[in-house]
Amino acid sequence: MGNFLKLARERYSCRKFTDSIVSEADLDALLEAARLAPSAVNKQPVHIWVLRGVEAIEKLKQVTDYTFGAKLVIVVGAKPDEAWVRKYDGKNGAEIDAAIVGTHIMLEAASRGLGTTWVGSFNPSKLVELFPEMAGSIPVVLFPIGHPDIGPGPRHDERKSIDDLVTRL
Ligand SMILES: Cc1cc2nc3c(=O)[nH]c(=O)nc-3n(C[C@H](O)[C@H](O)[C@H](O)COP(=O)(O)O)c2cc1C
Repeated sequence: MGNFLKLARERYSCRKFTDSIVSEADLDALLEAARLAPSAVNKQPVHIWVLRGVEAIEKLKQVTDYTFGAKLVIVVGAKPDEAWVRKYDGKNGAEIDAAIVGTHIMLEAASRGLGTTWVGSFNPSKLVELFPEMAGSIPVVLFPIGHPDIGPGPRHDERKSIDDLVTRL
């Protein structure tokens, strides 16, 4: 199995962390993985917020039920004003680009033995209200990050078969 497929297979949503702090070197690597993500016409219409302080994480708890006690949370936002727009239907690419950035962060975390979960269940307007720095962006994903203290959940191994997933035309 190739290295990437092994990583893709072993990555899982981690929802419990040890008390151990994520190092600056690990955080730098996650941000570098984010920076390297491809985007439509290379517009890079994305911004990232790093929440490390107790105060910031406490505020975040008013916005989502899914912080899992993490001491580090990364928020990825899409900036539609800076994105490529598809001429055929006017579709704005910002959220797709932000999702690719999120995927890079998630997989780099897994490759470094860190745990995280893609959290999409949050109140976006409340988030921007509590963090006015985020105004003008569409928050796409929150990543609570830490050192894993639990393995995969029951849904981790539930995937469609290739036959269900793929149609060869
Ligand atoms: C777009 C998206 C949103 C998600 N939102 C949440 C969430 O709000 N809370 C949560 O606990 N897990 C969330 N997840 C994690 C999924 O539940 C998880 O990826 C899926 O059940 C498969 O499990 P696995 O990641 O362990 O393989 C989200 C995943 C994605 C891709």
